[in-house]
Amino acid sequence: MMNQLLMVGAGSMSEALVRGWIDSGIEPTHITMTNRSDRERLLFLQDELGVQIVEDENVNDYDIVVLAMQPDGVMPYVESKEWKTPLLVSVAAHIEPSQLEEASGLPAVCAMPNTPVAYRSGMTGLWFGPETDEADRAKATSLFERVGRTAVTDAKTMSAFMAAAGCSPAFFYEIVGAMTPVLTDVGYDEQTARQIVAQAMKGSAELLSHETRKTNELIADVAAPGGPTDRGVGVLRERNLADVMASALRESAKEDHETIEKP
Ligand SMILES: NC(=O)c1ccc[n+]([C@@H]2O[C@H](COP(=O)([O-])OP(=O)(O)OC[C@H]3O[C@@H](n4cnc5c(N)ncnc54)[C@H](OP(=O)(O)O)[C@@H]3O)[C@@H](O)[C@H]2O)c1
Repeated sequence: MMNQLLMVGAGSMSEALVRGWIDSGIEPTHITMTNRSDRERLLFLQDELGVQIVEDENVNDYDIVVLAMQPDGVMPYVESKEWKTPLLVSVAAHIEPSQLEEASGLPAVCAMPNTPVAYRSGMTGLWFGPETDEADRAKATSLFERVGRTAVTDAKTMSAFMAAAGCSPAFFYEIVGAMTPVLTDVGYDEQTARQIVAQAMKGSAELLSHETRKTNELIADVAAPGGPTDRGVGVLRERNLADVMASALRESAKEDHETIEKP
């Protein structure tokens, strides 16, 4: 399938993706990483992951070029190169694929991954540029499905997607943080308490991702009327957790939307 991949930017997102891709079976030598100035970081990644590194890259030597620098560096980088062949993929927030296509003359995809890609449990939004064809879309989709799941996004859905996939891990950590004291109070150490809740959360997520039944039916499977689960769910409903969670997600989506809208 894929021959050569260039990662422009060697920060935390880039590393998470590369770790996931290598774990998925991509040969480390088929991945080249570059950055702006931090040579020590590149040498570290070469040593740690076995990837190739380059300082003065020719973007047309690669099948896919992934732009993984901070958003303000993306357009200047694209404009500074003469693009001939690669599929252009940006993971930078707030950049639209049509901007990349206009500046490069090539098909482009904006991908919005989250850091669980390192463990191949990522959720990546893919916003395909108008110049992409079926083959480009399939290529980008299969690349990101190696490290988790993908969903199609666009100008309308991107903000909500970013909140739901990118911001929500913090919400889940908040929930885990709120639950663990109940376990440490009865004698578990912090780490064990966290693993107990995290594993229950992971199992629930696994089940959710395989089930098509409505979440209320899944709750009913666990919560016998009047039983302990049912009583706990009752507390969540009395305190209106549903409203709290939806409001938090809307707030994160709104903030993003406003940032995108800024001139
Ligand atoms: N972190 C996340 O969870 C996440 C999730 C989704 C999307 N993203 C997106 O991923 C991108 C990178 O995020 P990050 O957290 O990995 O950032 P980061 O840790 O700050 O890393 C940025 C990297 O880009 C390099 N860079 C900057 N300008 C460059 C240029 N002109 N040419 C080549 N390399 C350049 C930097 O190199 P030097 O150190 O040498 O300057 C550094 O290696 C951002 O656009 C962000 O929106 C991040």
